[in-house]
Amino acid sequence: MTEQCTSTLADAGVLAEIRAGMDRPQKELPPKFFYDERGSELFEAITRLPEYYLTRAEAALLALRMPEWMAALGPAALVELGAGSAVKTRLVLDAMDGAEVYVPVDVSADFLDATARRVRGTYPGLEVRPVAADFTAPFPLPPLPHPVLHALLGSTIGNFAPDEAIALLHATRHRMGRGDRFLMGVDLRKEPARIEAAYNDAAGVTAEFNRNMLRVVNALAGADFDADAYEHRAFYDRAAHRIEMHLVPARAQTVTVPGAGRWTVAAGESIRTEISCKHDRASVDAMFAAAGLRVERWAADEEGLFAIVLGTPA
Ligand code: SAH
Ligand code: AVI
Repeated sequence: MTEQCTSTLADAGVLAEIRAGMDRPQKELPPKFFYDERGSELFEAITRLPEYYLTRAEAALLALRMPEWMAALGPAALVELGAGSAVKTRLVLDAMDGAEVYVPVDVSADFLDATARRVRGTYPGLEVRPVAADFTAPFPLPPLPHPVLHALLGSTIGNFAPDEAIALLHATRHRMGRGDRFLMGVDLRKEPARIEAAYNDAAGVTAEFNRNMLRVVNALAGADFDADAYEHRAFYDRAAHRIEMHLVPARAQTVTVPGAGRWTVAAGESIRTEISCKHDRASVDAMFAAAGLRVERWAADEEGLFAIVLGTPA
């Protein structure tokens, strides 16, 4: 049964976003365009790759910390931005004794439906209310019992430039009532080679995930990208503390996006498809402060790979 609230990408200014991104000197497309059903499946495959340490590191932290953190908070509802498969979410739900409502929010509508069905199967007493929406814009939430735990796991915050990340946290802060909390996972700054390996896996799954964005844009906007003509490139920018993913054609490519425009991507030029910002305690403190939040709890693994953070309104 599909009973999600829907406000999908197709009605959210897709053409304007494509035009704005492709008109920039560094052409770019927003990372939310990775995620149709195939994109979500490819991301799941990435989480299982030996090079992609992020998911395993975060899962270990959640397994270790959620029982204590959730016992102190006693949340009655969980709103999860960018829920994906919600596999790690189970470590949160299991620790939320007495959780009544779970609201997974995700732009990948069909994948979200499948996630909701699986979660209902595992937690029959839990009301699961999926919302298919772009969480960077206002979206509808059902009435919720408090306290509510708002969550953004998987280092998804890293996919936003600093001003966008602060805007997203600010909007989340404004949805929070008295006693509510915000749980976030962040990938930590570390040896660049380790990060670059995670985004250049030997099996080529990340490359396929990257190229899939062009197929999603074709489907969403009737564009005519030849996805196979583009190569995957990912490199770490030490000054900006972020990895960037690009798509680079070996030969010049022309793309038409009806109603948006026509562009030539020269040989060797690139379209940036993702940034993935890496953090430390100071950068998270600063980001939270700018969004009206305060770090209440922080836990990182011994290797310093990843951290989970609990935020409260400042
Ligand atoms: N939380 C999961 C999935 C992370 S992948 C994990 O930790 O493994 C990022 C998820 O966010 C994907 O499911 C993607 O579809 C979703 N997403 C990305 N940008 C989004 C946006 N702007 N609005 C809603 N969902 C988005
Ligand atoms: C969802 N997001 C946090 C992932 C990341 O690591 O930035 C997406 C991803 N891109 C390449 N691999 C995974």
